[in-house]
Amino acid sequence: MYRPLADSGIVRRIVGAAGAAPSIHNTQPWRFQVAGADLLEVRGDPERMLWVADAHGRALHLSCGAALLNIRLAVRATGGKPLVWPLPDPQGEPTLMASVQLTAGRPATLGERELFESIWQRHTSRAPFSGQRCPRCGMGRLGAGGEGRVRLAPPARCDRHRARTAARRGCRP
Ligand SMILES: Cc1cc2nc3c(=O)[nH]c(=O)nc-3n(C[C@H](O)[C@H](O)[C@H](O)COP(=O)(O)O)c2cc1C
Repeated sequence: MYRPLADSGIVRRIVGAAGAAPSIHNTQPWRFQVAGADLLEVRGDPERMLWVADAHGRALHLSCGAALLNIRLAVRATGGKPLVWPLPDPQGEPTLMASVQLTAGRPATLGERELFESIWQRHTSRAPFSGQRCPRCGMGRLGAGGEGRVRLAPPARCDRHRARTAARRGCRP
């Protein structure tokens, strides 16, 4: 039987990744509960909700969603496959954001491993917006990237990267 959460090292790895997610004003409005040897629950924490700025809890939900993405990545990084039930009991338990069952899976791909490792490099940029327009090709990449798979190059690499991407796709940067 697959019992990954019986291993405290795996639990620490998964919860550590979840807790590194971005959250509204860094409130970290979540709780993670091991509900079985293969079941993890993500709960919103009403005590950390911003009742004025986020009266409907939208940002709290988004923050918990970001944590959930990291959980899924961490499960993949351990070679498991996450089965997610979002909002499994909205009437009975509205703070239960998701139940995640861990099942046996294939080894993580290189892309999944890279994305998992980037969890700790990610941070919110508070630099002012430059006003520079995004190149059309770059926007296409963002759109096509899919959930959680957007990579932003640092400025020094950005121009070279943009030029290469544009050349590959045969369009102007
Ligand atoms: C749903 C959500 C809303 C956010 N809103 C703002 C915002 O309005 N202004 C801002 O400067 N940062 C905002 N952030 C970024 C958080 O402040 C930031 O993620 C948090 O302080 C943790 O910092 P880090 O992302 O560098 O780890 C938001 C993040 C999330 C997930």
